[in-house]
Amino acid sequence: MSSTLDTYRKNTKKSARIFERSKKLHINGVSHNIRFFEPYPFVTKSARGKHLIDVDGNKYTDYWMGHWSLILGHAAPKVAEKVKKQIQDCWMHGTVNENTIEFSEIIQKAVPVAEKIRYVSTGTEATMYATRIARAKTRKKIIAKIEGGWHGYTTDLLKSVNYPFDQSESAGLIDEDHIISIPYNNLEKSISILESVKNNLAGVIIEPLLGGAGCIPATKEYLSGIQEFVHNNNSLFILDEIVTGFRFRFGCLYKTMDLDPDIVTLGKIVGGGFPIGVIC
Ligand SMILES: Cc1ncc(COP(=O)(O)O)c(C=O)c1O
Repeated sequence: MSSTLDTYRKNTKKSARIFERSKKLHINGVSHNIRFFEPYPFVTKSARGKHLIDVDGNKYTDYWMGHWSLILGHAAPKVAEKVKKQIQDCWMHGTVNENTIEFSEIIQKAVPVAEKIRYVSTGTEATMYATRIARAKTRKKIIAKIEGGWHGYTTDLLKSVNYPFDQSESAGLIDEDHIISIPYNNLEKSISILESVKNNLAGVIIEPLLGGAGCIPATKEYLSGIQEFVHNNNSLFILDEIVTGFRFRFGCLYKTMDLDPDIVTLGKIVGGGFPIGVIC
């Protein structure tokens, strides 16, 4: 192990120097916790296809692909071409534009539950709004999430993300009482927890495949059992497809499982690496 570290240090001297500058400016030297690793992260200079190149000229096979958003690889020529052309026309209009409409038509065709669509800049915002819509629509307050489920940094859903799921995930959260957790793929236990709060249950938010928690697929029986309970109790069934959407097929996973979610959230791949969140 130490020889691997020695080799890493030897080959990433420029990264080490640049990272010292970053440490003076950013918390732990990074702008997202997940980007730090010991002894220090290499500093990326460029990326093409499946490779990252660092400032020392080392080439890495990238299994992270921009937080999983770059399914076509880095700097995919077809995407780059379109983006270059668009940048020459304009970027932030702040007004209605036809690109949005065309994009929504594509999403709606592939994700038929998307009767109405709203765009935001991150997946975090998409799940935050989904939570709010559920509360506003049902006039109830409790949102149930999965133990280990990650839906971004929204202050609503930042609970029971990391094992053993019994500690607060962060300071500054004030409404943890209205977020409850249910165990993934354990229908009986989940239903008994939901049963105890059903009169105040605004919705349940679930990833059809737990992404951050280790790529664990939900069973069809689990998801349809939760959906049935939720619909029988006038609550909303929210599927977070920010990781799964447009990854396994051109559309969402829910369609392959005969589900009928009330809200679907998208992000990552639909933005091709550019900031996006979608509430369907
Ligand atoms: C399932 C899921 N939902 C929401 C998010 C938050 O998306 P963003 O990082 O764009 O805020 C993530 C991010 O990894 C995610 O995996």
